[in-house]
Amino acid sequence: MQDLLQKIEHFKSEISAFSTTDEKQLETYRIKWLGTKGLVKEIMGEMKNVPVEQKREAGQVLNEFKQFAETKYNEMREAMGATDGAAASDTDLTLPGDDMPLGSRHPISLMRNKIISIFQRLGFAVAEGPEIEDDWHNFTALNMPEHHPARDMQDTFYVEAGKNSAVDWLLRTHTSNTQVHEMQRSKPPIRVICPGRVYRNETISARSHCFFHQVEGLYIDENVSFADLKQTLYFFVKEMYGKDVKVRFRPSYFPFTEPSAEMDVSCFICGGEGCNICKKTGWVEILGCGMVHPNVLQNCGIDPNKYTGFAFGMGVERPAMLKYGINDIRLFSENDVRFLKQFTSAT
Ligand code: DAH
Repeated sequence: MQDLLQKIEHFKSEISAFSTTDEKQLETYRIKWLGTKGLVKEIMGEMKNVPVEQKREAGQVLNEFKQFAETKYNEMREAMGATDGAAASDTDLTLPGDDMPLGSRHPISLMRNKIISIFQRLGFAVAEGPEIEDDWHNFTALNMPEHHPARDMQDTFYVEAGKNSAVDWLLRTHTSNTQVHEMQRSKPPIRVICPGRVYRNETISARSHCFFHQVEGLYIDENVSFADLKQTLYFFVKEMYGKDVKVRFRPSYFPFTEPSAEMDVSCFICGGEGCNICKKTGWVEILGCGMVHPNVLQNCGIDPNKYTGFAFGMGVERPAMLKYGINDIRLFSENDVRFLKQFTSAT
């Protein structure tokens, strides 16, 4: 023990006498005293030779010595201008940390997910179809043969195909193409909800865009009736807009449904009193729907004498604009983070 104390005294005076402003010498100091094979480690190892009754005292002395050697090292390092690490006294550890940037969901995704989740609760499965589509799936199968005037309801972007291509390729004008794929792919009962992006050759303005989003619904089974369609949509509206919202159906025309209807809800901005959003009518149109036309079932390999079904299609942008008070559809696709980070939930 006495030896040990002497040795430490000796080391201490050596350390006290040492001083440097040279990086290399400082490193030599570190290796000599504090390195894994350094003298501090070595002398610590002598603990095992100390008699039991003196271990406590020896431990204290050794620890003190270790700190002494470390403090000296840190002082020299600091004096040389090193600011990193624990030795840097100008690091204010009480400052708040940097924020981790956290993304947020796109308002269109929020609205689409909300629509989907309502139908999922009724047992609808999610199906997706291609955005680049052939003419048959987008039009012909849906009871719009070539030269049918209804094709003009949707200005189409055609995709340039190779010279030998037997079919016309286009960007789908609606999600109804997914109905066709689903009917071809599986047998009734079919109950799917098909979200997706669609394209139309329209001038871009605050109110319309050349691409937007739709959610399509399709239910095919034996004995499906218009009453089932209405009940399904009533449920949707109550979940989406609240139980006080009124619903009305207006007769309409779509080539792929017969009969066809458009569905309005009482304006959820003014409560039906009449405002700018509902153009003073008190009603807002939200979707098109109808009973699947027998020709469509036939085209897709489903026996129209055995099965019936309903379908509906709605846009996603407009409900999102109404919900969040967005007055320019272009904001959805400009990817301005200041716009996007405002949305957290569609509920
Ligand atoms: N495809 C129609 C459109 O884009 C929307 C639509 C209407 C879809 C009636 C349907 C439907 O499935 O039954 O305007």
